[in-house]
Amino acid sequence: MHHIAILPGDGIGPEVIRQALCVLDAAAQRFNFAYKTHFAPIGGEAIDKTGKPLPDETLRLCQDADAVLLGAVGGPAWDHLPADKRPERGILALRSALKLFANLRPITVYDALKDASPLKSALLNGGCDILFVRELTGGIYFGPRGRQMKNGVEAAYDTEIYSVDEIKRIAHIAFEMARKRTRRLTSVDKANVLDSSRLWREVIDEMAFSYPDITVEHLYVDNAAMQLICRPTSFDVILTNNIFGDILSDEASQITGSIGLLPSASLGADRKGLYEPIHGSSPDLAGKDLANPIAAILSAAMMLRYSFDESQAAGAIECAVDAVLKHGVRTADIAGSNPTVGTARMGHLIASELLKQQ
Ligand code: IPM
Ligand code: MG
Repeated sequence: MHHIAILPGDGIGPEVIRQALCVLDAAAQRFNFAYKTHFAPIGGEAIDKTGKPLPDETLRLCQDADAVLLGAVGGPAWDHLPADKRPERGILALRSALKLFANLRPITVYDALKDASPLKSALLNGGCDILFVRELTGGIYFGPRGRQMKNGVEAAYDTEIYSVDEIKRIAHIAFEMARKRTRRLTSVDKANVLDSSRLWREVIDEMAFSYPDITVEHLYVDNAAMQLICRPTSFDVILTNNIFGDILSDEASQITGSIGLLPSASLGADRKGLYEPIHGSSPDLAGKDLANPIAAILSAAMMLRYSFDESQAAGAIECAVDAVLKHGVRTADIAGSNPTVGTARMGHLIASELLKQQ
């Protein structure tokens, strides 16, 4: 029996998670596995209920579970709060407490959605399939920070700091992932300016000797942002620190047509993982049955693959998503001028497709 902590969160979180659970249910039926869900608040919902973005009880539930499935957090109602009380703190604290240092963000362009991409279709010929491996529990997100005076005026600072061990363990995941794919690794840094990046590059170069089968390329982050648009199909695995991965994965999401399509997995040393769409809580869409549930559904698929060893079920969900898109089913974010379906209908059609493929 797999125990899953379900943290729907804020905005569109609850409605996309509902559809992920609907598809998970269909997958369990078809592939004969059992799971139990345990709901808990996080983010704004948790702040309203308990005063904290990550209540102790939610953390305990996640620690006891085999995996965590999360919707999204945040919204205008909590924007005025100080940094350590904001909804986003809930996710950051959870990633850190569960030691989930490796964030996997696959960027896949679906054939059926080539027209939804803002890039010229010629740039996408040959297929675009990138895996971001983003360091998630270090760097400037967690380094020393604070306020102090600078030249007599108030100033603030955040610190980018990485140890050799932190770089090695995330790079190890990236090299191993590249080995299972097309054996190309792009490491992103700003080694022309930052000391932390120079260390990053040294460690990657040193490790590359142990992976002679992997072709390693280094790109400065500004150049990487440009190359992603110029030659998106040339990338395989892209390894980044915490903040560069945050920025570049949002940029890369647009290559696919919509951030509403993209899932993520956050992993640590054991099989426990946190699975969440890379999109935010989209308060403007919340409660309107307008959001795309595919990112949440594909996050559930990643959970099956990485935490539960149900890779067949994971693959079947991905096939069902692909099939439904091929049939022309579109939520508003990927519709262009085509007719649209709502969040619930999209989830239902993917679940039905999954059972039909049986
Ligand atoms: C993401 C988000 C988070 C991050 C926020 C919500 C803290 O943007 O998962 O990409 O910056 O990591
Ligand atoms: Mg982000």
